[in-house]
Amino acid sequence: MQIYYASRDGQSRKIAAHIAGRLAARGIAATPVDLAADPPSAEKLAAAKLVVAVLSIRYGKHLPEGLQFVEMFRSLDRPPPLALASVNLTARKPGKDTAEGNVYLRKLIAVNELKPAVAAAFAGRLDYPRYGFLDKLAIRFIMLITGGPTDPSTVVEYTQWDRVDAFAAKLAEISGAEKGE
Ligand SMILES: Cc1cc2nc3c(=O)[nH]c(=O)nc-3n(C[C@H](O)[C@H](O)[C@H](O)COP(=O)(O)O)c2cc1C
Repeated sequence: MQIYYASRDGQSRKIAAHIAGRLAARGIAATPVDLAADPPSAEKLAAAKLVVAVLSIRYGKHLPEGLQFVEMFRSLDRPPPLALASVNLTARKPGKDTAEGNVYLRKLIAVNELKPAVAAAFAGRLDYPRYGFLDKLAIRFIMLITGGPTDPSTVVEYTQWDRVDAFAAKLAEISGAEKGE
């Protein structure tokens, strides 16, 4: 199974690798695949038993390679089941980490008329020292208005790994069912 991810700062890659590790522990071979480096063909996607995507947000939008991936998926005649995760900082707030409660994930699903078998929003990582001047300024402003940390030395990984584990467990269930187990 491929765990496709779109990442700039590495948190979605880390989440995809974590999911792959949890699946491997259950005897399901899974490989994280960077959509920016190695996007699949439509044929390959169509042949998958389960399509898994972990897509991060930057300035209100999923990364372009993530959006292209979703467009390809929605163009399939008989799409396989989809497991979709959005990674963003809004999801650090309780209630904003679900398909209904997370504005980015909700929109992605609605705009593309997706019917994911599993969908979750995972909180990402805040890493001010890593950001350039303008990005740092913009994120500090967003944190100011959403009640988050504004100290420019702050580094916080908000990802709740138990939620990622639960997501991986659902994938294992679905892929077991697909195999007729
Ligand atoms: C330049 C920039 C813009 C961002 N814009 C948003 C945003 O609009 N909404 C949000 O919830 N999080 C936003 N984030 C937070 C990222 O989604 C979060 O840091 C995530 O972990 C990034 O994933 P990645 O490490 O896989 O690239 C932004 C982060 C950066 C660096």
